[in-house]
Amino acid sequence: MPVIAIVGAQWGDEGKGKVVDMLAQQARMVVRFSGGDNAGHSVVNPSGEFKLHLIPSGIFNAGVACIIGNGVVINPKVLIGEIDNLNELGVDTSHLFISDRAHLIMPYHLLLDGLEEEALGGKAIGTTRKGVGPAFADKAARLGIRAGDLLDKEALKERLSAVLDYKNVILTKVYGAKPLSLDEVYSQYCQYGERLAPCIRETTIMVDEAVSRGELVILEGAQGALLDPDFGTYPYTTSSSPLAAGSCLGAGLGPTRLDRVLGVYKAYCTRVGSGPMPTELNDQTGELIRERAHEYGTTTGRPRRCGWLDAVAARFSRRINGLTGAVITRLDILDVLPSFKICVGYELDGQKIDYFPGNIAALARCKPIYEELPGWQAPTTDIRSYEQLPMEARQYVARVEELISCPVNLICVGPGREQAIEKTPIL
Ligand code: IMP
Repeated sequence: MPVIAIVGAQWGDEGKGKVVDMLAQQARMVVRFSGGDNAGHSVVNPSGEFKLHLIPSGIFNAGVACIIGNGVVINPKVLIGEIDNLNELGVDTSHLFISDRAHLIMPYHLLLDGLEEEALGGKAIGTTRKGVGPAFADKAARLGIRAGDLLDKEALKERLSAVLDYKNVILTKVYGAKPLSLDEVYSQYCQYGERLAPCIRETTIMVDEAVSRGELVILEGAQGALLDPDFGTYPYTTSSSPLAAGSCLGAGLGPTRLDRVLGVYKAYCTRVGSGPMPTELNDQTGELIRERAHEYGTTTGRPRRCGWLDAVAARFSRRINGLTGAVITRLDILDVLPSFKICVGYELDGQKIDYFPGNIAALARCKPIYEELPGWQAPTTDIRSYEQLPMEARQYVARVEELISCPVNLICVGPGREQAIEKTPIL
């Protein structure tokens, strides 16, 4: 059985949670590898409807070890709330493990995420304000506190004391905010540590053993390629890599052991937060997609910006991820449209281009060049085989495959686990 990374191929919210939940039924391990509780993975399965922020979407399968990898930043309060919530709903979480190397979101990260955004005014990133950016900044600045630090209270106090002294200077002197109390933060994090200690371990050994035994291991991404700090619409990005390359780093697995990379695309595009989005629709069609698909952020409730599928961005994402296959989700949202568009190129300063510019000022000037396709105007939500899809829907899938140069493995036609059509086998 292979090791498969499942990654967001647009601006996040593509439906990775559903795909992971489906495949996890055959897996022995799911490792979440990046992001933090800025992510919101929606899962609808026989156990109920769930919104997961940190816990891997394989948690509903008792035999699947679920690991929060070293590449994730963890707000322990949010994680404990998520565990309690699942347990109350009858979902067993005894097979959840946390990498001792995963960094923690601290109270000052939450404060700074808000203060930094407010200081940016009209140029704000539109972050989820979950403290994710400041926590990854501290990781790079070697100021982070990690899950494993919770297991040694004395060392934790020493480290926290040094870091908090510095953070309090920033909070008070730069932003005029109140300082945080060492005793309060320390005692709060000691309590979190006591609660989470049984799950915290050296998880790379577990991952290595599962892969060596030939088990199906899924590396679950968060956010999407166009929010990657290197390749996304910088600086309007997130702070950890949602790419397949990030999956190896964030799970502690060497790149030679990754067998497949599955990119998840919505049948259209959405984005939350600021930054250019060439195919955004600020009209009734955009509104129709938003309402029909209930495109509101799982984590923040913000309305998502909606637009046509951008094949230029999709091709870029296929390339930087090295996708071996694609999943198209939410095809059913297009069921009512008489026709729809796909962006097949950009016009930049009077020139036609077919690549995704790295410079956001240039990207913001790109005007989409569209191809219009006929709609099928028939419900697809109950269809389970590719041949039964309306001809126009099959034409659409075939065109996407052609434009992004990647086979489509799976097509999703609703939120439920069973609402999926396998076009070509993933396993
Ligand atoms: P941050 O990751 O909270 O710092 O936010 C940075 C940018 O990434 C903002 O535009 C957010 O809206 C976006 N973002 C972060 N997480 C997600 C996600 O899970 N889905 C979609 N957008 C996200």
